[in-house]
Amino acid sequence: MDNMDEIKAYAKVNYIPIVRDQTAKKLTELCHSLSPNKILEIGTAIGYSGILMLKSCNAKLHTIEKDEERAEKAEENFQKYAVSDRVTFYLDDAQKVIEELCSKNEKFDLIFLDGAKGQYIKYYPYLKCLLNGGGILFTDNIYLHGFVQADGKVPHKHRSMVVNLRKFIDTLSHDSDLETTFYDIDDGYSISKLK
Ligand SMILES: C[S@@+](CC[C@H](N)C(=O)[O-])C[C@H]1O[C@@H](n2cnc3c(N)ncnc32)[C@H](O)[C@@H]1O
Repeated sequence: MDNMDEIKAYAKVNYIPIVRDQTAKKLTELCHSLSPNKILEIGTAIGYSGILMLKSCNAKLHTIEKDEERAEKAEENFQKYAVSDRVTFYLDDAQKVIEELCSKNEKFDLIFLDGAKGQYIKYYPYLKCLLNGGGILFTDNIYLHGFVQADGKVPHKHRSMVVNLRKFIDTLSHDSDLETTFYDIDDGYSISKLK
């Protein structure tokens, strides 16, 4: 089955956030041109972006999700879309998993960062540790509904996330080990290449 409409419809009905269309297009084009061997995804949800990436290249995917119900649906979808033999699934907290992967010296050609936005800055040193030289960090939702760029008051429920995303963007911008481009498309994404 190639049609992704069913999985998108399920996400919509169940209020599960999945990567938006233009961002998904860029991500799949990148998978196609980069031909990564190993991809790490932080934030599986129900497997939508993971399946898109796997359908665009021959890579193996390591993907992390902490929510049991979503993880179960993701595993079902990986089966349904015939990619489960290329997936290593971690039903766990992303911070714990990336620390473990780092200590095992695991390396990835592409990291798709799409988990808890307020945690990106904490993940940062581990993400660098997990990237191969020349590898790509693709980060979604960096502008968080425009709040990250706005001057005005940020609603309380988003405040710490916005502060942390601003720190993350600032860190990416000033890190000379990476070349980063920021895209003001959909919810904002960035593509960073480790030199
Ligand atoms: C935006 S959704 C991922 C969407 C998915 N990448 C897609 O486009 O199809 C973010 C996911 O990250 C998961 N998540 C949030 N915090 C996490 C954590 N600390 N560890 C692992 N997963 C986490 C959420 O449960 C949620 O399903």
